[in-house]
Amino acid sequence: MSKKYLITTALAYTNGPLHLGHVRSTYIPADVMRRYLKLIGKEVIHIGGTDNHGVPITLTAEKEGVSPEDIVNKYHNEIKRDLDSLSIEFNSYGKTHSDIHIKTAQEFYLKLKDNGYIYEKDIEQFYCSRCNKFLADRYVEGICPHCSGEARGDHCEVCGRHLEPTELINPYCVNCGSTPEIRKTTHRFFRLSALSKDLMEYIKNSNIPDYVKNMAYRWIEELHDWDISRDMDWGVPLPDDKNQVMYVWLEAPIGYISFTKMLGDIWRDYWLNDGSKDVKIWHFIGKDIAIHHSVFWPGMLMAHEEYSLPSSVISGGYLTLEGKKMSTSKRWVVWVEDFIKYFDPDYLRYFLMINAPLNKDCDFSFDEFQKRINTELIAIIGNFTHRTIVFTHRKFKGIVKVDEDNLKEEDLKLINKCKETVKEYHNHIINFNFKDALMDIIHLAKEGNNYFQRMEPWTVKDEERLREILYTCLLTVKYIIYLLYPFMPNKCRELLNQMNEELDLNIRESGLKKPTVVFKKIEDRDIELAKKEILNIENEDNINKLKDKGNKNKDKEYKKDKENRRNTMDTITIEDFAKLDLRIAQILEAQEIPKSKKLLKLIVDIGDEKRQVVAGIKGHYTPEDLIGKKIVVLCNLKPAKLCGVESQGMILAGGEETVALLVPDRDIPVGSKIQ
Ligand code: 2FM
Ligand code: ZN
Repeated sequence: MSKKYLITTALAYTNGPLHLGHVRSTYIPADVMRRYLKLIGKEVIHIGGTDNHGVPITLTAEKEGVSPEDIVNKYHNEIKRDLDSLSIEFNSYGKTHSDIHIKTAQEFYLKLKDNGYIYEKDIEQFYCSRCNKFLADRYVEGICPHCSGEARGDHCEVCGRHLEPTELINPYCVNCGSTPEIRKTTHRFFRLSALSKDLMEYIKNSNIPDYVKNMAYRWIEELHDWDISRDMDWGVPLPDDKNQVMYVWLEAPIGYISFTKMLGDIWRDYWLNDGSKDVKIWHFIGKDIAIHHSVFWPGMLMAHEEYSLPSSVISGGYLTLEGKKMSTSKRWVVWVEDFIKYFDPDYLRYFLMINAPLNKDCDFSFDEFQKRINTELIAIIGNFTHRTIVFTHRKFKGIVKVDEDNLKEEDLKLINKCKETVKEYHNHIINFNFKDALMDIIHLAKEGNNYFQRMEPWTVKDEERLREILYTCLLTVKYIIYLLYPFMPNKCRELLNQMNEELDLNIRESGLKKPTVVFKKIEDRDIELAKKEILNIENEDNINKLKDKGNKNKDKEYKKDKENRRNTMDTITIEDFAKLDLRIAQILEAQEIPKSKKLLKLIVDIGDEKRQVVAGIKGHYTPEDLIGKKIVVLCNLKPAKLCGVESQGMILAGGEETVALLVPDRDIPVGSKIQ
């Protein structure tokens, strides 16, 4: 029986939209994995949704003066919008505040009870007599007895310790500020401690990463039973006591099952553990909830007895922003919705996955983002794919099919490198090493570029040999697209579209479309603007120096100008620009045109041929100045006669009093396309 994969992503609380930290730790890696497994023909489903109960939701609703339902609906939609905007796809996406989930969670609870894992116990809880309610979890704040830091409910924000709420010093009700009293209440407890040995064994044998295992071992050593009921109205009602609801952390992970049920009967193929299934369940989460997924949740599944346990818990590290901890309350955060107004979503997917190994904490900085995209993605991958497509299009207008048996050793070397890369990449992905998988693609593109340089296709006169070289390059491009696709699905589709190709590792004879630039550079101005508008850092002196009014106005003008340029009729499209055949050329000969005051006649090498070009630069350059210079020539300008001399192109120069030729600022081959 073939293996099935069930990928889940943490159910985000519906108390705000998604920021870069969420997508980096959890959703992007899960989507990369899903796309890759599908690409190699595996059966995989991605299950996700939102977590609608618990104190984070009711507190937000109270703060915004609306009902919890309103808050849940609003943010459920916003979260899904953010996920869609980054092309993160699900087979099923649900809400925990839904009939199917409430029913599933209640059945799960009753099964735990039947199996003897639930018992009642009287406990002491803070009660606010002014609000007339028990203060569950974060409804009470105070001072931590261990470090004197500010503590919320059961957790100290400063020392990170777990607290019993009644341990708090100077507690107060977050709703009304009054000092709560202590009252007795009867809660349900889950007999987690009875599972210590089984959990230890499970974790030891599981595929959970070592650092999560170590956290889990420490936790299991001091395993307590778990208080799983709350004196609240908002949540999944206990089926055996309608005055209480389930603790949100008991019911939320059951959502993974409820939302699989939304797909119909096939949910059984993934979850029911009857010994006949070969299923891998992978939970993608942020590292702050690793214990919930490696201890509490497997404990619940063990006690239930009918369901499969997770095969792995993949936990992404924290993301800081410009070197500082993200904070939504201090508005030091980048929301996905804002980010994609400025930058391509696929660039974000790429950057967040190559920036650091998934399990490590790392930083997001706009400068680093720009640098990596421009100098790595564009300069290496973009350069190789684009030059290959453009050159082939120019030469043959289509894909060049050749007899592979005739390929030369140097061609086969690159093709072998492609094949080896596929294997290495596979091992990296399957072990959740997304960064290394991307590095493999960069190395392959570098090899591709080296091959292109060495082969100098622009000098090859033998057409058959040229076809072989370009075939080798195109095949390498196909490999790059295939491997890059899980990370950058939209950009890869654009490339395939230009090539008239499918997402596979073959070359067809279908003909190329007119190439356009797929990987566009990130400009400094876009970065500056994004920093100012997204981070709102006008008042921060250390990040940029764009504080004065002049600059502010300039920014406004720039933005307006950008808008205008986009909207007016006299803009040109990238397709228009792509019509210009601009190339690096070298001046081989130069001489004066006797009858003319301004003109020189030049013979230039444009890569695949020599051209005669007439240029209005006499008086600014002597013929001797020019011989050997590399310049830029517009090659597809309609030929014209100037002073009786035919000009088959135009050299690029600027200036009025002083005229200067445009020259490449480092040595690149004659024939290189300007794009
Ligand atoms: O920490 C959180 O954002 C939780 N809402 C995650 C829940 S994941 C799953 F267990 F439901
Ligand atoms: Zn109160």
